[in-house]
Amino acid sequence: MTGAGNELAATVRTSQGTYRVLVGSGLITRLGEEVKASGLDGRGFVIGDSALYPASVRAAQDALERAGITSHVMTIPSGEQVKSLDTARHIYAWLARLRAERRDFLVAVGGGVTGDLVGYAAATWLRGVPFVQVPTSLAAMVDASLGGKVAINLPEGKNLVGAFHQPKLVLQDVDFLKTLPPRELNSGWAEAIKHGLILDADLLAMFERDAENLKAMRGERWVDAIRRSVAIKAEVVSSDEFETGETRILLNYGHTTGHALEAVTGYGAFLHGEAVAIGMSAAIRIAHRMGMVAGELVERQDSLLRRFNLPLRAPGVPVDKLLAATRGDKKTRGGAIRWVLLEGPGKATTRRDVPEKLVREVLVEIAG
Ligand SMILES: NC(=O)c1ccc[n+]([C@@H]2O[C@H](COP(=O)([O-])OP(=O)(O)OC[C@H]3O[C@@H](n4cnc5c(N)ncnc54)[C@H](O)[C@@H]3O)[C@@H](O)[C@H]2O)c1
Ligand SMILES: [Zn+2]
Repeated sequence: MTGAGNELAATVRTSQGTYRVLVGSGLITRLGEEVKASGLDGRGFVIGDSALYPASVRAAQDALERAGITSHVMTIPSGEQVKSLDTARHIYAWLARLRAERRDFLVAVGGGVTGDLVGYAAATWLRGVPFVQVPTSLAAMVDASLGGKVAINLPEGKNLVGAFHQPKLVLQDVDFLKTLPPRELNSGWAEAIKHGLILDADLLAMFERDAENLKAMRGERWVDAIRRSVAIKAEVVSSDEFETGETRILLNYGHTTGHALEAVTGYGAFLHGEAVAIGMSAAIRIAHRMGMVAGELVERQDSLLRRFNLPLRAPGVPVDKLLAATRGDKKTRGGAIRWVLLEGPGKATTRRDVPEKLVREVLVEIAG
Protein backbone atom coordinates (compact mmCIF):
# COMPACT_ATOMS: atom_id res chain seq x y z
CA MET A 1 0.00 0.00 0.00
CA THR A 2 2.77 2.41 0.88
CA GLY A 3 5.50 2.99 -1.63
CA ALA A 4 8.93 1.99 -0.40
CA GLY A 5 10.95 4.80 1.09
CA ASN A 6 8.19 7.25 1.91
CA GLU A 7 7.49 5.82 5.35
CA LEU A 8 9.60 8.48 6.99
CA ALA A 9 6.86 10.89 8.07
CA ALA A 10 9.05 13.06 10.26
CA THR A 11 12.27 13.42 12.16
CA VAL A 12 11.93 14.83 15.67
CA ARG A 13 14.86 16.88 16.95
CA THR A 14 15.13 17.24 20.70
CA SER A 15 17.72 17.91 23.41
CA GLN A 16 17.65 14.16 24.13
CA GLY A 17 18.44 13.25 20.55
CA THR A 18 16.88 12.92 17.14
CA TYR A 19 14.46 10.18 16.22
CA ARG A 20 12.49 9.03 13.22
CA VAL A 21 8.75 8.58 12.92
CA LEU A 22 7.85 5.90 10.39
CA VAL A 23 4.28 5.56 9.14
CA GLY A 24 3.20 2.82 6.74
CA SER A 25 1.45 -0.44 6.07
CA GLY A 26 3.06 -3.65 7.34
CA LEU A 27 5.89 -1.83 9.11
CA ILE A 28 5.73 -3.98 12.23
CA THR A 29 7.67 -6.71 10.43
CA ARG A 30 10.60 -4.28 10.21
CA LEU A 31 10.64 -3.36 13.90
CA GLY A 32 13.86 -5.28 14.61
CA GLU A 33 15.96 -3.76 11.86
CA GLU A 34 14.60 -0.26 12.50
CA VAL A 35 15.36 -0.58 16.20
CA LYS A 36 18.92 -1.51 15.31
CA ALA A 37 19.15 1.34 12.84
CA SER A 38 18.12 3.61 15.71
CA GLY A 39 21.23 2.60 17.62
CA LEU A 40 19.70 0.18 20.13
CA ASP A 41 21.55 -3.06 20.75
CA GLY A 42 20.30 -4.44 24.07
CA ARG A 43 17.38 -6.75 24.82
CA GLY A 44 13.84 -5.62 24.02
CA PHE A 45 11.15 -5.56 26.72
CA VAL A 46 7.85 -5.44 24.91
CA ILE A 47 4.89 -4.20 26.93
CA GLY A 48 1.57 -4.43 25.10
CA ASP A 49 -2.08 -3.59 25.66
CA SER A 50 -3.86 -6.95 26.12
CA ALA A 51 -6.36 -5.87 23.43
CA LEU A 52 -3.47 -6.25 20.98
CA TYR A 53 -2.50 -9.65 22.31
CA PRO A 54 -1.53 -12.08 20.95
CA ALA A 55 -1.36 -11.10 17.27
CA SER A 56 0.17 -7.60 17.27
CA VAL A 57 2.29 -8.01 20.38
CA ARG A 58 3.68 -11.29 19.05
CA ALA A 59 4.32 -9.66 15.68
CA ALA A 60 6.46 -7.08 17.45
CA GLN A 61 8.34 -9.76 19.34
CA ASP A 62 8.85 -11.90 16.24
CA ALA A 63 10.24 -8.92 14.34
CA LEU A 64 12.76 -8.27 17.13
CA GLU A 65 13.78 -11.92 17.32
CA ARG A 66 14.23 -12.14 13.54
CA ALA A 67 16.74 -9.31 13.78
CA GLY A 68 18.60 -11.25 16.46
CA ILE A 69 17.31 -9.18 19.39
CA THR A 70 16.45 -11.13 22.53
CA SER A 71 13.03 -10.08 23.76
CA HIS A 72 10.54 -10.50 26.59
CA VAL A 73 6.83 -9.78 26.56
CA MET A 74 4.42 -8.53 29.17
CA THR A 75 0.80 -7.48 28.67
CA ILE A 76 -1.21 -4.92 30.58
CA PRO A 77 -5.00 -4.57 30.70
CA SER A 78 -6.73 -1.93 28.54
CA GLY A 79 -8.06 1.33 29.92
CA GLU A 80 -7.04 4.62 31.47
CA GLN A 81 -6.95 3.17 35.01
CA VAL A 82 -3.88 1.16 33.97
CA LYS A 83 -1.81 4.37 33.83
CA SER A 84 -1.08 4.03 37.54
CA LEU A 85 1.75 3.64 40.01
CA ASP A 86 0.48 0.12 40.67
CA THR A 87 1.01 -0.94 37.07
CA ALA A 88 4.35 0.85 36.97
CA ARG A 89 5.34 -1.20 40.03
CA HIS A 90 4.38 -4.41 38.18
CA ILE A 91 6.57 -3.36 35.29
CA TYR A 92 9.50 -2.54 37.62
CA ALA A 93 9.15 -5.96 39.29
CA TRP A 94 9.20 -7.67 35.91
CA LEU A 95 12.23 -5.68 34.76
CA ALA A 96 13.99 -6.44 38.04
CA ARG A 97 13.27 -10.16 37.75
CA LEU A 98 14.73 -10.24 34.25
CA ARG A 99 17.59 -7.94 35.25
CA ALA A 100 16.93 -5.30 32.63
CA GLU A 101 20.00 -3.13 32.17
CA ARG A 102 20.74 0.38 30.97
CA ARG A 103 21.39 -0.72 27.40
CA ASP A 104 18.15 -2.67 27.17
CA PHE A 105 15.04 -0.92 25.87
CA LEU A 106 11.28 -0.98 26.37
CA VAL A 107 8.77 -1.18 23.53
CA ALA A 108 5.22 0.16 23.99
CA VAL A 109 2.63 -1.59 21.81
CA GLY A 110 -0.78 0.01 22.28
CA GLY A 111 -2.63 3.30 22.44
CA GLY A 112 -1.72 6.43 24.35
CA VAL A 113 -2.33 4.75 27.68
CA THR A 114 0.32 2.13 26.97
CA GLY A 115 2.72 4.67 25.47
CA ASP A 116 2.45 7.07 28.41
CA LEU A 117 2.82 4.30 30.98
CA VAL A 118 5.67 2.44 29.28
CA GLY A 119 7.40 5.74 28.57
CA TYR A 120 7.10 6.63 32.23
CA ALA A 121 8.55 3.26 33.23
CA ALA A 122 11.41 3.78 30.76
CA ALA A 123 12.07 7.29 32.11
CA THR A 124 12.40 6.01 35.65
CA TRP A 125 13.81 2.48 35.46
CA LEU A 126 17.54 2.75 36.33
CA ARG A 127 17.10 6.54 35.99
CA GLY A 128 16.16 6.15 32.39
CA VAL A 129 16.44 3.51 29.67
CA PRO A 130 15.63 3.88 25.96
CA PHE A 131 12.18 3.11 24.65
CA VAL A 132 10.37 2.68 21.36
CA GLN A 133 6.81 3.72 20.60
CA VAL A 134 4.64 1.38 18.52
CA PRO A 135 1.32 3.22 18.70
CA THR A 136 -1.77 1.26 17.65
CA SER A 137 -4.57 3.82 18.05
CA LEU A 138 -4.96 6.80 15.72
CA ALA A 139 -4.88 9.18 18.70
CA ALA A 140 -1.55 7.74 19.78
CA MET A 141 -0.18 7.87 16.22
CA VAL A 142 -0.94 11.52 15.49
CA ASP A 143 -0.46 12.77 19.03
CA ALA A 144 0.50 10.80 22.15
CA SER A 145 3.45 8.84 20.73
CA LEU A 146 5.22 12.03 19.65
CA GLY A 147 6.98 14.52 21.84
CA GLY A 148 8.23 12.56 24.83
CA LYS A 149 5.59 13.54 27.36
CA VAL A 150 5.17 10.44 29.51
CA ALA A 151 3.07 10.13 32.63
CA ILE A 152 0.88 8.19 34.98
CA ASN A 153 -2.26 9.26 36.80
CA LEU A 154 -2.80 9.62 40.54
CA PRO A 155 -6.16 9.43 42.30
CA GLU A 156 -5.72 13.21 42.66
CA GLY A 157 -5.59 13.83 38.93
CA LYS A 158 -4.52 12.82 35.43
CA ASN A 159 -0.89 12.91 34.28
CA LEU A 160 0.35 14.35 37.59
CA VAL A 161 3.57 12.34 37.67
CA GLY A 162 5.76 12.10 34.64
CA ALA A 163 8.71 13.28 32.64
CA PHE A 164 9.92 14.42 29.26
CA HIS A 165 11.49 11.22 27.97
CA GLN A 166 11.84 11.02 24.20
CA PRO A 167 11.57 7.67 22.38
CA LYS A 168 14.40 6.44 20.15
CA LEU A 169 12.00 5.48 17.39
CA VAL A 170 8.28 5.77 16.66
CA LEU A 171 7.07 3.01 14.36
CA GLN A 172 3.49 3.32 13.18
CA ASP A 173 1.97 0.40 11.31
CA VAL A 174 -1.33 1.74 10.00
CA ASP A 175 -2.66 -1.80 9.54
CA PHE A 176 -3.28 -1.83 13.30
CA LEU A 177 -6.03 0.72 12.76
CA LYS A 178 -8.17 -1.86 10.95
CA THR A 179 -9.25 -3.32 14.31
CA LEU A 180 -9.68 -0.03 16.13
CA PRO A 181 -13.36 0.65 17.00
CA PRO A 182 -14.82 3.37 14.68
CA ARG A 183 -15.54 5.72 17.56
CA GLU A 184 -11.89 5.56 18.67
CA LEU A 185 -10.84 6.12 15.07
CA ASN A 186 -12.97 9.24 14.66
CA SER A 187 -11.76 10.51 18.01
CA GLY A 188 -8.21 10.20 16.68
CA TRP A 189 -9.16 12.03 13.48
CA ALA A 190 -10.29 14.94 15.66
CA GLU A 191 -6.68 15.54 16.75
CA ALA A 192 -5.39 15.12 13.19
CA ILE A 193 -7.96 17.63 11.92
CA LYS A 194 -6.92 19.93 14.76
CA HIS A 195 -3.37 19.97 13.37
CA GLY A 196 -4.74 21.18 10.04
CA LEU A 197 -6.94 23.82 11.65
CA ILE A 198 -4.15 25.35 13.73
CA LEU A 199 -1.14 25.10 11.43
CA ASP A 200 -1.74 23.67 7.99
CA ALA A 201 -4.42 24.94 5.62
CA ASP A 202 -3.40 22.32 3.03
CA LEU A 203 -3.99 19.46 5.46
CA LEU A 204 -7.33 21.03 6.32
CA ALA A 205 -8.21 21.11 2.62
CA MET A 206 -7.10 17.47 2.30
CA PHE A 207 -9.59 16.50 5.01
CA GLU A 208 -12.34 18.53 3.40
CA ARG A 209 -11.72 17.06 -0.04
CA ASP A 210 -11.67 13.46 1.05
CA ALA A 211 -13.34 13.08 4.44
CA GLU A 212 -15.37 9.97 3.61
CA ASN A 213 -12.45 8.09 2.07
CA LEU A 214 -10.13 9.02 4.91
CA LYS A 215 -12.69 8.01 7.50
CA ALA A 216 -13.23 4.65 5.82
CA MET A 217 -9.46 4.16 5.32
CA ARG A 218 -10.09 3.74 1.58
CA GLY A 219 -7.39 4.34 -1.00
CA GLU A 220 -4.03 5.75 0.06
CA ARG A 221 -4.70 9.31 1.07
CA TRP A 222 -5.70 8.40 4.59
CA VAL A 223 -2.13 7.27 5.23
CA ASP A 224 -0.86 10.54 3.77
CA ALA A 225 -3.20 12.46 6.06
CA ILE A 226 -1.76 10.61 9.06
CA ARG A 227 1.80 11.27 7.85
CA ARG A 228 1.14 14.95 7.38
CA SER A 229 -0.53 15.27 10.74
CA VAL A 230 2.38 13.44 12.35
CA ALA A 231 4.80 15.81 10.61
CA ILE A 232 3.04 18.84 12.08
CA LYS A 233 3.19 17.55 15.63
CA ALA A 234 6.84 16.56 15.09
CA GLU A 235 7.67 20.05 13.89
CA VAL A 236 5.94 21.66 16.84
CA VAL A 237 7.74 19.40 19.30
CA SER A 238 11.08 20.03 17.63
CA SER A 239 10.66 23.79 17.84
CA ASP A 240 9.19 23.95 21.35
CA GLU A 241 10.24 20.78 23.17
CA PHE A 242 9.29 21.84 26.71
CA GLU A 243 6.25 23.96 25.92
CA THR A 244 8.04 27.09 27.04
CA GLY A 245 7.62 28.93 23.75
CA GLU A 246 4.59 30.00 21.78
CA THR A 247 4.17 26.97 19.56
CA ARG A 248 3.41 23.82 21.51
CA ILE A 249 0.55 25.51 23.33
CA LEU A 250 -1.26 25.81 19.99
CA LEU A 251 -1.79 22.03 20.12
CA ASN A 252 -4.12 22.84 22.98
CA TYR A 253 -6.75 24.11 20.54
CA GLY A 254 -10.12 22.81 21.73
CA HIS A 255 -8.59 21.44 24.91
CA THR A 256 -9.55 24.18 27.38
CA THR A 257 -13.24 23.37 27.05
CA GLY A 258 -12.44 19.77 26.11
CA HIS A 259 -10.59 19.05 29.35
CA ALA A 260 -13.28 20.88 31.33
CA LEU A 261 -15.94 18.75 29.68
CA GLU A 262 -14.06 15.55 30.47
CA ALA A 263 -13.67 16.62 34.10
CA VAL A 264 -17.33 17.63 34.52
CA THR A 265 -18.70 14.51 32.84
CA GLY A 266 -16.32 12.22 34.71
CA TYR A 267 -14.19 10.98 31.79
CA GLY A 268 -16.93 8.56 30.80
CA ALA A 269 -19.33 10.27 28.45
CA PHE A 270 -16.92 11.44 25.78
CA LEU A 271 -13.78 10.02 24.25
CA HIS A 272 -10.93 12.52 24.39
CA GLY A 273 -11.15 13.46 20.71
CA GLU A 274 -14.91 13.92 21.01
CA ALA A 275 -14.42 16.31 23.93
CA VAL A 276 -11.79 18.14 21.88
CA ALA A 277 -14.21 18.40 18.93
CA ILE A 278 -16.78 20.03 21.21
CA GLY A 279 -14.00 22.23 22.60
CA MET A 280 -12.96 23.30 19.09
CA SER A 281 -16.59 24.03 18.38
CA ALA A 282 -16.64 26.33 21.44
CA ALA A 283 -13.30 27.91 20.51
CA ILE A 284 -14.29 28.81 16.98
CA ARG A 285 -17.49 30.42 18.25
CA ILE A 286 -15.42 32.45 20.69
CA ALA A 287 -13.08 33.51 17.87
CA HIS A 288 -16.08 34.45 15.74
CA ARG A 289 -17.58 36.59 18.50
CA MET A 290 -14.18 38.18 19.03
CA GLY A 291 -14.24 39.20 15.37
CA MET A 292 -11.25 37.00 14.53
CA VAL A 293 -12.82 34.66 11.96
CA ALA A 294 -15.69 34.88 9.51
CA GLY A 295 -18.86 32.83 9.95
CA GLU A 296 -17.78 30.82 6.94
CA LEU A 297 -14.89 29.24 8.85
CA VAL A 298 -17.25 28.30 11.69
CA GLU A 299 -19.37 26.52 9.10
CA ARG A 300 -16.36 24.82 7.54
CA GLN A 301 -15.08 23.49 10.84
CA ASP A 302 -18.54 22.36 11.96
CA SER A 303 -19.23 20.54 8.73
CA LEU A 304 -15.83 18.82 8.68
CA LEU A 305 -16.16 17.58 12.26
CA ARG A 306 -19.68 16.36 11.51
CA ARG A 307 -18.41 14.36 8.54
CA PHE A 308 -16.16 12.47 10.96
CA ASN A 309 -19.17 11.77 13.19
CA LEU A 310 -17.76 14.03 15.87
CA PRO A 311 -20.04 15.85 18.30
CA LEU A 312 -20.20 19.66 18.30
CA ARG A 313 -22.32 20.10 21.39
CA ALA A 314 -22.76 18.58 24.83
CA PRO A 315 -26.41 19.15 25.65
CA GLY A 316 -27.35 19.02 29.30
CA VAL A 317 -23.91 19.68 30.77
CA PRO A 318 -24.23 22.34 33.52
CA VAL A 319 -22.67 25.55 32.20
CA ASP A 320 -21.61 26.84 35.63
CA LYS A 321 -19.65 23.69 36.35
CA LEU A 322 -18.14 23.75 32.88
CA LEU A 323 -17.10 27.37 33.29
CA ALA A 324 -15.54 26.66 36.69
CA ALA A 325 -13.65 23.66 35.27
CA THR A 326 -12.48 25.79 32.35
CA ARG A 327 -10.91 28.21 34.80
CA GLY A 328 -9.20 25.30 36.55
CA ASP A 329 -7.50 24.04 33.41
CA LYS A 330 -3.77 23.81 34.00
CA LYS A 331 -2.98 26.02 31.01
CA THR A 332 -4.34 28.97 33.02
CA ARG A 333 -1.60 31.25 34.31
CA GLY A 334 -1.98 34.39 36.35
CA GLY A 335 -5.77 34.27 36.40
CA ALA A 336 -6.73 34.83 32.78
CA ILE A 337 -7.42 31.80 30.64
CA ARG A 338 -5.09 31.54 27.70
CA TRP A 339 -7.38 30.58 24.83
CA VAL A 340 -6.02 29.05 21.65
CA LEU A 341 -8.09 30.59 18.88
CA LEU A 342 -8.06 30.56 15.11
CA GLU A 343 -7.41 33.69 13.06
CA GLY A 344 -8.00 31.85 9.82
CA PRO A 345 -7.74 28.36 8.30
CA GLY A 346 -4.42 26.81 9.39
CA LYS A 347 -3.60 29.78 11.57
CA ALA A 348 -3.89 29.78 15.36
CA THR A 349 -2.90 32.22 18.06
CA THR A 350 -3.44 32.64 21.80
CA ARG A 351 -5.52 35.28 23.56
CA ARG A 352 -5.91 36.13 27.24
CA ASP A 353 -8.48 38.87 26.74
CA VAL A 354 -11.62 36.84 26.12
CA PRO A 355 -14.35 38.26 28.38
CA GLU A 356 -15.92 35.66 30.65
CA LYS A 357 -19.35 36.85 29.61
CA LEU A 358 -18.58 35.89 26.03
CA VAL A 359 -17.27 32.48 27.08
CA ARG A 360 -20.45 31.90 29.07
CA GLU A 361 -22.63 32.80 26.08
CA VAL A 362 -20.79 30.32 23.91
CA LEU A 363 -20.90 27.58 26.53
CA VAL A 364 -24.66 28.10 26.88
CA GLU A 365 -24.89 27.55 23.14
CA ILE A 366 -22.65 24.44 23.23
CA ALA A 367 -23.87 22.84 26.45
CA GLY A 368 -26.67 24.19 28.60
N1 LIG B 1 1.91 11.90 25.86
C1 LIG B 1 1.17 12.75 25.19
O1 LIG B 1 1.65 13.73 24.60
C2 LIG B 1 -0.29 12.49 25.11
C3 LIG B 1 -1.10 13.21 24.21
C4 LIG B 1 -2.43 12.90 24.13
C5 LIG B 1 -2.97 11.90 24.93
N2 LIG B 1 -2.17 11.22 25.79
C6 LIG B 1 -2.69 10.14 26.63
O2 LIG B 1 -3.10 9.07 25.78
C7 LIG B 1 -4.15 8.35 26.40
C8 LIG B 1 -5.25 8.15 25.39
O3 LIG B 1 -4.73 7.44 24.29
P1 LIG B 1 -5.69 6.56 23.38
O4 LIG B 1 -6.82 7.40 22.92
O5 LIG B 1 -4.85 5.87 22.40
O6 LIG B 1 -6.34 5.56 24.43
P2 LIG B 1 -6.05 4.02 24.75
O7 LIG B 1 -4.63 3.70 24.84
O8 LIG B 1 -6.90 3.71 25.94
O9 LIG B 1 -6.66 3.26 23.48
C9 LIG B 1 -8.04 3.41 23.20
C10 LIG B 1 -8.75 2.06 23.16
O10 LIG B 1 -8.43 1.40 21.95
C11 LIG B 1 -7.90 0.10 22.21
N3 LIG B 1 -6.95 -0.13 21.11
C12 LIG B 1 -5.76 0.51 20.89
N4 LIG B 1 -5.26 0.12 19.72
C13 LIG B 1 -6.12 -0.78 19.19
C14 LIG B 1 -6.15 -1.51 17.97
N5 LIG B 1 -5.21 -1.37 17.04
N6 LIG B 1 -7.20 -2.34 17.75
C15 LIG B 1 -8.20 -2.44 18.66
N7 LIG B 1 -8.24 -1.77 19.81
C16 LIG B 1 -7.20 -0.95 20.07
C17 LIG B 1 -7.34 0.17 23.58
O11 LIG B 1 -7.31 -1.09 24.21
C18 LIG B 1 -8.34 1.10 24.27
O12 LIG B 1 -9.48 0.39 24.66
C19 LIG B 1 -4.57 9.15 27.62
O13 LIG B 1 -4.07 8.53 28.77
C20 LIG B 1 -3.91 10.50 27.42
O14 LIG B 1 -3.58 11.14 28.63
C21 LIG B 1 -0.85 11.50 25.89
ZN1 LIG C 1 -5.68 15.94 22.92
